[in-house]
Amino acid sequence: MKVTVVGAGAVGASCAEYIAIKNFASEVVLLDIKEGYAEGKAMDLMQTASLNGFDTKITGSTNDYTKTANSDVVVITSGIPRKPGMTREELIGINAGIVKTVVTSLVEHSPNTIVIVVSNPMDTMTYLVHKTTGLPRNRIIGMGGALDSARFKYRLAEALGAPISDVDGMVIGGHSDTGMIPLTRIATRNSVPVSEFLSEERLEQVAADTKVGGATLTKLLGTSAWYAPGAAVSGMVQAIACDQKKIFPCSTLLEGEYGLNDICIGVPVILGKGGIEKIVDIKLTDAEKAKITASAEGVTKTNGLLEL
Ligand code: 2OP
Repeated sequence: MKVTVVGAGAVGASCAEYIAIKNFASEVVLLDIKEGYAEGKAMDLMQTASLNGFDTKITGSTNDYTKTANSDVVVITSGIPRKPGMTREELIGINAGIVKTVVTSLVEHSPNTIVIVVSNPMDTMTYLVHKTTGLPRNRIIGMGGALDSARFKYRLAEALGAPISDVDGMVIGGHSDTGMIPLTRIATRNSVPVSEFLSEERLEQVAADTKVGGATLTKLLGTSAWYAPGAAVSGMVQAIACDQKKIFPCSTLLEGEYGLNDICIGVPVILGKGGIEKIVDIKLTDAEKAKITASAEGVTKTNGLLEL
């Protein structure tokens, strides 16, 4: 299993590290445009191999896409991260050009690859990858919901005073401060609905805190988060590499599912060796349906800024 991670910044390097530590990939290629940067991070990571007990071979490359040839999965983290006070959507002007160039080079050298998009605004960048590559929709996956769901579980566990291992929850919709939909109705504490423990008001606060989870960290850190994004995408890569058939909320091109068409937005999917092997059409309440429709309107508006 060969994985390429484009962008050796904090998210990309964290992703490479978590993939290596999980030890399911034979090779990770880390690529960046900054001279020597990916090579340095790869070498530093390889020097943890004996300490963290992995056999994965991590190599770095300065913009040489021949080194990425025949990758089974490619992860695109390249582009600029947001600064405090910015929305993800404000990054489109710079990141769209980067993502288009990167994915074209990646697919040229790995025509059968599965693409995971992390760069923001992620739903729109995922849509751009579709328009740029024409790859089948099962092989283009946006990472947002896995991260947002991890933040949702963190906030739920905090409110419940419960171990995170007892909590389950999912966030669907757009990966944006306003478009996310934490599904509080079906969240559970060891199979017990969380509404048995938390008031509606408290659950609304959990959902609100989840939606701005990224912005909260950007304000504290002065830049976008990287540990949880890196961990979230590494779990998706593992599900594909190990054919786990796990359900993740991922941004995927909808063709009528959830009443939506020609848009990439976060919905539950089954991830396995074929990438998105099934879109799971869960039964939403009328209120939830209205939320995902509104969220889609926001994503479509951002898509309109693309010069396709
Ligand atoms: C986040 O929410 C980077 O969009 C990513 O942290």
